Amino acid sequence: FAPRHLLSIADLTPAEFATLVRNAASHKRAIKSGAIPQSLIGSLSGKTVAMMFNKRSTRTRVSTEAATVQMGGHPMFLGKEDIQLGVNESLYDTSVVISSMVSCIVARVAKHSDVADLAKHSTVPVINALCDSFHPLQIIADFVTIYESFTPKAHSLSSLGLEGLKIAWVGDANNVLFDLAIGATKMGVDMHVATPKGYEIPADMVDIIQRSGEGVPTPGKLIQTNIPEEAVKDADLLVTDTWVSMGQEEESKKRMKAFEGFQITDDLAKRGGAKEHWKFMHCLPRHPEEVSDEVFYSPRSLVFPEAENRLWAAISALEGFVVNKGKIVE
Ligand code: CP
Ligand code: NVA
Repeated sequence: FAPRHLLSIADLTPAEFATLVRNAASHKRAIKSGAIPQSLIGSLSGKTVAMMFNKRSTRTRVSTEAATVQMGGHPMFLGKEDIQLGVNESLYDTSVVISSMVSCIVARVAKHSDVADLAKHSTVPVINALCDSFHPLQIIADFVTIYESFTPKAHSLSSLGLEGLKIAWVGDANNVLFDLAIGATKMGVDMHVATPKGYEIPADMVDIIQRSGEGVPTPGKLIQTNIPEEAVKDADLLVTDTWVSMGQEEESKKRMKAFEGFQITDDLAKRGGAKEHWKFMHCLPRHPEEVSDEVFYSPRSLVFPEAENRLWAAISALEGFVVNKGKIVE
């Protein structure tokens, strides 16, 4: 039996992605109203979820641990000082050993090839908790937030009814953007991306994003520009992330300079002509240079519901990949 892994939103069909989002939203509603779905109670009982984290984390760590406990399982946090991952032991050896003792590995590593290697040799599902290319748990939570905040049209099994929505991403082309753009393409949501010159989405990633729309009746379109005002024109949602991702700290000074003029502000939204009721999202942690306080703490900002939705996304992903062994069903 080969386990099914979640390394990127690209691993999911549109129907599976939409189902993970809908399940997260419906579990949230049920649990908050005190009606815990029977199928979740004790669903990870007796199971251990190993959390191999080579980088810092607040949301991913807390949401994964809390989700595992809510489902009756045991989260085992293994930070980079705790285990031999990639330091004194090969990924192959680590993966074979850990997967022989637990029911799931949630891994935060630097390189995508590291999480892919772990998955290749693991006998249990591996869930990517962020690598340099993807952040699927974040994007499930982001689409829960979008689904809850915009009025979805009637939808089919493979859509969330968000077709035609327009997201403007202003800032760095990074892991969060890549998976967000893959999810958007699958859901028929357009992405207009503004990065400084030299910081565009790499060509091989553009290819992955565009190929993720294969078979989708009206895939979301990806448009790139170097002009923030162009990206925000007619946008329903403005999104950004840090300009300096973990591992890029040495480039910090150079990046601050390159990204001047890319801060999301009310003025940028006005100048560029965003929709009247535009909203704002950010995966967090946030720094003031990429978004002003006036936007970040305004009623337009969905950042705190978005962060909370990480919990519901983690429950939905653990249910799909561990409890239901990769069969993503309502
Ligand atoms: N958004 C996110 O993944 O946050 P953490 O790095 O704190 O987990
Ligand atoms: N792009 C950021 C996301 C953190 C959640 C990073 O990789 O550091």
